[in-house]
Amino acid sequence: MSAPVVLQVAASPVSPALVLRPWRMEDVAPLVEVSRDPTLRQWVSSVVDNDAEGTRWVQAQQQGWAAGDRFGFAVLEAQPGSIREQLVGNVVLKEVTSGKPAAEVGYWTAAHARGRGVASRALEALTSWAFDTFEADGLERLELLHQVDNLASCRVAQKSRYDFDTILPAAPPSFPRDGHLHIRRTST
Ligand SMILES: CC(C)(COP(=O)(O)OP(=O)(O)OC[C@H]1O[C@@H](n2cnc3c(N)ncnc32)[C@H](O)[C@@H]1OP(=O)(O)O)[C@@H](O)C(=O)NCCC(=O)NCCS
Repeated sequence: MSAPVVLQVAASPVSPALVLRPWRMEDVAPLVEVSRDPTLRQWVSSVVDNDAEGTRWVQAQQQGWAAGDRFGFAVLEAQPGSIREQLVGNVVLKEVTSGKPAAEVGYWTAAHARGRGVASRALEALTSWAFDTFEADGLERLELLHQVDNLASCRVAQKSRYDFDTILPAAPPSFPRDGHLHIRRTST
C-alpha cells in the first residue's frame, strides 16, 4: 500500500466527523496522555507510560503497515474553532495473512470521548475498509474478542453487527477472565 489510508466518518447528531489515519510520531504525546486512564489500562494490554514507550508503540504500528499484517488507525475528531484535530481513539485490524479467512479487530476510545459512538462508528469504517481491501485475498470474517465483564465493549460489538459466537476460556495473563468471541462476516 503506497499512499497512507485515510478513512472519513460523517458527523452524527451528537459527535463531530471522524478521521482515521495511520498512527504518526506526532500522536505520541496525546497517546501518553490518553493512556493514563485507568479504564483503558484495565482492558488494554499494550498501554504506554511515557514518550519512549509511546514512540516504540507508534513504531510498532508503522511496522505493521509496512509488513502488511497489522493496520492501526489513530481516530481523530475535528475540534470546533480549531484547525487541529484531537486524538479520540484507536482502531486496529490485525492478524492479517494472505489467503487466511479470518482477521481480528480491536479498539479503544479516549475517556473524554466515550459514549458518543466513536468506537462503533470507527469500527464500522474499519470493517468496511477491511472487507473492501482484503476480501479478494481470502478474508471472509472479522473476529472481535473481549472479556466477559467488559460490557461497553460487548455493546460496541452488538451495535457494529459483530454477532456473539462463543465463550472463550480465560488465557492469563492477557485474558485473565473468560471472553466473548463476536464475528462479522463479509455478507452481513
Ligand atoms: C469499549 C469502548 C471502546 C467504547 O467506546 P465508546 O466510543 O464509548 O463506544 P460507543 O459510544 O460507540 O458505544 C458504547 C456503548 O456501550 C455502552 N456502555 C458504556 N458503558 C457500559 C457499561 N458499563 N455497561 C453496559 N453498556 C455500557 C454505551 O451506553 C454505548 O451503548 P449505546 O450507544 O447503546 O448507549 C471504551 O469504553 C473503551 O475505550 N474502553 C477501554 C478500552 C476497551 O475496553 N477496549 C476494548 C477492548 S476489547
